[in-house]
Amino acid sequence: LRGRTIVNLFAEDSTRTRISFEAAAKRLSADVINFSAKGSSLSKGESLKDTAMTLQAMGADAVVIRHSASGAAQRLADCHWMSGSVVNAGDGTHEHPSQALLDAFTIRKHLGMGGTDLTGLSIAIVGDILHSRVARSNVLLLSMLGAQVALVAPPTLLPVGIHNWPATVSYDFDSVIPHVDVVMMLRVQQERMGELFFPNAREYSRYFGLNKDRLAQMKSTAIVMHPGPMNRGLEITADSADSARSVILEQVTNGVSVRMAILYMLLAGSQEIGATE
Ligand code: NCD
Repeated sequence: LRGRTIVNLFAEDSTRTRISFEAAAKRLSADVINFSAKGSSLSKGESLKDTAMTLQAMGADAVVIRHSASGAAQRLADCHWMSGSVVNAGDGTHEHPSQALLDAFTIRKHLGMGGTDLTGLSIAIVGDILHSRVARSNVLLLSMLGAQVALVAPPTLLPVGIHNWPATVSYDFDSVIPHVDVVMMLRVQQERMGELFFPNAREYSRYFGLNKDRLAQMKSTAIVMHPGPMNRGLEITADSADSARSVILEQVTNGVSVRMAILYMLLAGSQEIGATE
């Protein structure tokens, strides 16, 4: 991607996703501009439209956007403010497609039966489904690839209309855990919780946390995943996060490759190299 300019527009905090997209773009020799809300005119109240038009004027070939508003990436992609590609790096509580792709890739590497899909695998997604864009994108992708998805959470952390999702729902982690091939834990998103969704942290961990006892109930081949950042001691104990079953750091490694593929497919050969100069 030499000669292409990729802008990382992060209007919400991020460690892994931002660094991962940056590493992916740099490994493909693109020019990368990191633009975070703090320290930019976004924090002075500039609109997304003005920001997008400014990026267009600077010749950005792609914008990787993370935004607290659900639908922000779609808005940018559908508008005529800029002509480059738009990659959704997480929009509010809506979607996080590159995370789902790297999760599916990690699952396939560990448990794939040789085919390209995930047919026959059973996957539990556990925790704060209500606020999780990771859960929404994974439910869509994993079910599309043929996996059976079980959502496990307290009723207060499940969105309205959950029964229309292509997944089963359970409030009982212990009854689900012995039957699944993958346990995907989600972060309790305290920053999106304006009110109380469960009585206290101890009770949450006891019913919905992954710990040594639950780890022992898993199938011998089953793996543990978490998109990060983790609240160690809340949704996952340190010994579970660091256990031999955990593929959490592999998810991070695979994220770079998957994002390289995304950027390459969007940008390579789309125009003459150097045409934007
Ligand atoms: C997730 C996110 O930001 O949606 N993290 C990530 O991208 N690796 C999940 C989270 O914040 O809990």
